[in-house]
Amino acid sequence: MTSQRRSVARAIREALLTPDPTAKVFATRQVARDWRLGRLEFAFDVTMPDRPAWPDELELLPPGRMPKRGKMGNHRNRIALWHSLAHIEFVAIDLALDMAGRFGESMGQVFVSDFLSVAADEAMHFALLARKLDSLDSRYGALPVHDGLWNAATETSHDVIARLAIVPMVLEARGLDVTPATLERVRSQGDENGAKILKRILDDEIRHVAFGSKHFHAICGGRGENPRETWQNLVRTHFSGVLRPPFNDSARLAGGLPREFYGAIA
Ligand SMILES: [Fe+2]
Ligand SMILES: [Fe+2]
Repeated sequence: MTSQRRSVARAIREALLTPDPTAKVFATRQVARDWRLGRLEFAFDVTMPDRPAWPDELELLPPGRMPKRGKMGNHRNRIALWHSLAHIEFVAIDLALDMAGRFGESMGQVFVSDFLSVAADEAMHFALLARKLDSLDSRYGALPVHDGLWNAATETSHDVIARLAIVPMVLEARGLDVTPATLERVRSQGDENGAKILKRILDDEIRHVAFGSKHFHAICGGRGENPRETWQNLVRTHFSGVLRPPFNDSARLAGGLPREFYGAIA
């Protein structure tokens, strides 16, 4: 039952190396589906690229040089908001693919299933936001984007527990904190469709954080380490930003991240 099937690593690598956003969405959902249906072999015969392929025309700016956004309201500010969210989801596709392709061999089949399902969610989130930009007569790539979002992957490419601690358990958890306020602002402007998109994203992201904490705790359990101390040490070592309140404690807890983890280092 081996030999004829393509390896999951090869399929993931191809999706990572697809620059065109629409094609990357398609390739990612295809990998996730093929894996779920048993069409890909649990084999890791190729390595993951250091950086995934993104569109050539995407203008990447260092974080400090991003233009400041106003508080929404006018059309330009609304486009800027949806564009920055689209970029976060675009990078999230590659982060989830890289998680499965880089660490899947050592972590096992459930890990691959979990993070390919995350990748498929992120592809859906991106597609919803790309369509939203269309409806505003804009498109992904029309504005410059923040070039810091792959740094966390580079910083943690050597170590799955560091990757889990930072990507799902810091960065995606941060999304849980900020999305409800954005959702309320969007809704108060009468954009019910936008609010619906953000609600869908928020619900899915709780699950992503939960996958991260589940595998993080499993590794700590296997090593006999205290998960809270290990997480705090990893965050201090590998995360250069600050953990800043307000925290969405209930959503974080639903994602398997209790306050005693982040309260002490905020
Ligand atoms: Fe997402
Ligand atoms: Fe996510």
